[in-house]
Amino acid sequence: MTTSPLANLAIQTAELLEAVKALSSLEALREAEPLIIGKRSILSTLQKSLGGLEPDDRREAGAQLQQARRTVEAALELRRDQLALGARAERLASDRLDLGDVVVGAIRWPASSGHPGLVASTQRELEDVFVAMGFTVSDGPEVESDWYNFEALNIPPAHPARGMWDTFYVEMGEPETVVLRTHTSPTQIHLMESAVASNSLPIHSVMPGRCYRRDTPDARHLATFHQIEGLVVDRGITFADLAGVIETFTRKYFGPDISARLRPAYFPFTEPSAEFEITCTICRGEGCRTCSHTGWIELGGCGMLDPAVFEAVGVDGDEWSGFAFGFGIDRCAQMRYQVADMRALIENDVRFLRQFS
Ligand code: DAH
Repeated sequence: MTTSPLANLAIQTAELLEAVKALSSLEALREAEPLIIGKRSILSTLQKSLGGLEPDDRREAGAQLQQARRTVEAALELRRDQLALGARAERLASDRLDLGDVVVGAIRWPASSGHPGLVASTQRELEDVFVAMGFTVSDGPEVESDWYNFEALNIPPAHPARGMWDTFYVEMGEPETVVLRTHTSPTQIHLMESAVASNSLPIHSVMPGRCYRRDTPDARHLATFHQIEGLVVDRGITFADLAGVIETFTRKYFGPDISARLRPAYFPFTEPSAEFEITCTICRGEGCRTCSHTGWIELGGCGMLDPAVFEAVGVDGDEWSGFAFGFGIDRCAQMRYQVADMRALIENDVRFLRQFS
């Protein structure tokens, strides 16, 4: 009787399992795999040696060998999973993003944290001044129909006053002309319309926001700029109320030694209308290049609401009267912080921005 080629199978299998357990990396496993389970493995060699056995013995030995192969394969898969898991944990540990580090870095160099820009912070300060004076804050769309931006403000198509605003058109004509608002005044119209619809007059509100004009930027103008609009609609409002609000605002925002003056002007939506000027903050009224040696700087316009505007929005002019004003937020920032060239406000030069953190 010849000894079975599988006489040492149990020991051989145990050795293979030991070898699998000893594999220490995925790479080592990949290299060793052909030797443990592949064509060059002891299991494959044994398989070939079964050829000389009697059919019954061969079947039995084949089944044993198959069993041994499954055991080794399962061990190999298990080891592969363990090693992959370990490798992933290692990668995660070395990739870890330490958020604590980032915070510490920010504390070490404060300039790396952001802050509101000069225009945004000026807008907030202006809102605060008006809120303290009893105004609410509202806003409106930057894209307006021609009706809101012009017609309801008593500026019909082809009115010569349209030349006061170089306009960006979004759509011309049908079904309606749409523009980028050239001023915040259309927000007055929205506000009065909804107050009429909800029967909630009076109105004491300011409306800050971005405006657009087809202007060439220079030291005192930007094509994208910001205005703050004011609107008061109440019973018995007079020009004296308007003048009082302008003067109070000016002293509160710019300080007690800066005053305001109103000069007769023309705006289609107010009658009478005035231009609103303040003492030049750069020369304190002495006269300098920025104020063209007048001692005054124009901030915006104002006036008593025109009856045609009341009519457009359905406010009863016999019962209500009111005033409005609108002026540049960027211009206020320029005057308050003595910025010689307004273009600095939009150039995002960090050396400029850092001065206002
Ligand atoms: N909307 C005008 C402009 O941008 C400024 C203005 C003038 C606003 C008179 C008003 C006003 O509310 O009453 O040129």
